[in-house]
Amino acid sequence: MDKKIHKSIIETKANLKSLSDSKRSYIKAYSNIKRSVDLILDLKHNNLPIIPEINFQSIVNEKISIDQIKNIKDRGCVIIREVFDQALVKDWNEQITDYIINNDYFTKAKEKEGMDQYFSDLKSGAPQIFGLYWSKPQMLARQSKSMAITKKFLNSMWDANSPNGKEFDSNNDFIYADRIRRRVPGDKTLGLSPHIDGGSFERWTDSAFQKVYESIFNGDVDSYNPWKAAFRTQTQEYNSPAVCSMFRTFQGWTALTKQGPSDGTLSLIPIANCMSYLLLRALQDDIADDSLCGATPGRPLLISNEYHKELLDGLVSIPEVLPGDTVWWHPDITHSVADEHKGDEYSNVMFIGSSPQCPKNLRYAKRQSEHFLLGKSPPDFAAEDYEVEFKDRFSADQLTSLGRNQMAL
Ligand SMILES: [Fe+2]
Repeated sequence: MDKKIHKSIIETKANLKSLSDSKRSYIKAYSNIKRSVDLILDLKHNNLPIIPEINFQSIVNEKISIDQIKNIKDRGCVIIREVFDQALVKDWNEQITDYIINNDYFTKAKEKEGMDQYFSDLKSGAPQIFGLYWSKPQMLARQSKSMAITKKFLNSMWDANSPNGKEFDSNNDFIYADRIRRRVPGDKTLGLSPHIDGGSFERWTDSAFQKVYESIFNGDVDSYNPWKAAFRTQTQEYNSPAVCSMFRTFQGWTALTKQGPSDGTLSLIPIANCMSYLLLRALQDDIADDSLCGATPGRPLLISNEYHKELLDGLVSIPEVLPGDTVWWHPDITHSVADEHKGDEYSNVMFIGSSPQCPKNLRYAKRQSEHFLLGKSPPDFAAEDYEVEFKDRFSADQLTSLGRNQMAL
């Protein structure tokens, strides 16, 4: 580790420990996590739904109940079904296959092997994730009205008020162009260990993150609210390829194929308030002064059995989803991709998160649009630039007015 970062971790920990009785706070956070995990295990044992599910049409018809919203806020994740028509998405999936084959992606990917370093520390190694950003189906999904309605609903889970005015505009999003996962049936070697994106060591060391988590560090664990957006868009992430530069109210993906618990797909720990436990864990006496329980700059925040056993017990698979269903999770939520794909069909998704309009996201959207116009990989990702020469790439003249606005063009 960089000497400067090493020193900053030691200093930050000493400083955070001086703010309050972190042992007492941790005991409180620990018992909250135990209670939440017990509830999840209880639901699982009784075969009851754990991850909240709603239908897209009930958002359109404003038929989401207060109880449903509370459940989403407690669980920090939600499946929104039928955002897109199944037949349309099946066609999109085929179009993406053609895009890959007709442009000889596999040969080109072999030549550029090793450029994408983000996932290299995850125990299970590199996933079957394609460095493709600008296919027609991806852009059509991103700029669609139904996606805009979905994201507006998701953004509304957050309290956007901040001491500096609104933290973001809940009604409007920028596109964050991300990749595609296509998982071959039978695959055993590829998966993602449990992790959290959007910042690892920064969650302790960065001054804006310290404000986001102020009540936790100050010993008032009960008043921490994971849905308060204040200072969330002010955080500065460690500069590294493939660490998200946008603030996302939710990470998410759209299912391109049917996939469920045995299909090598997503698992989540559906507890919105897990940060009190995670942050305070690293401040306990059994953790070395220079350790943040494995948090490393420029990497996902790993959640491990070594440090976080009681939280990991709450890891559950998503239920079966169909093409056109979407899965969403709060940026503090632990997630993983199963090591083994035991199903017999591809499990494919388009990563599409919710990234509301705010100055931070505008800065990135502008840089991203320059890359889009040239067909290059977006600035956050390894500069593999496969699509520069690709046939049938989505072009700027295919943007709707909504799409142009979402691309800051
Ligand atoms: Fe992730």
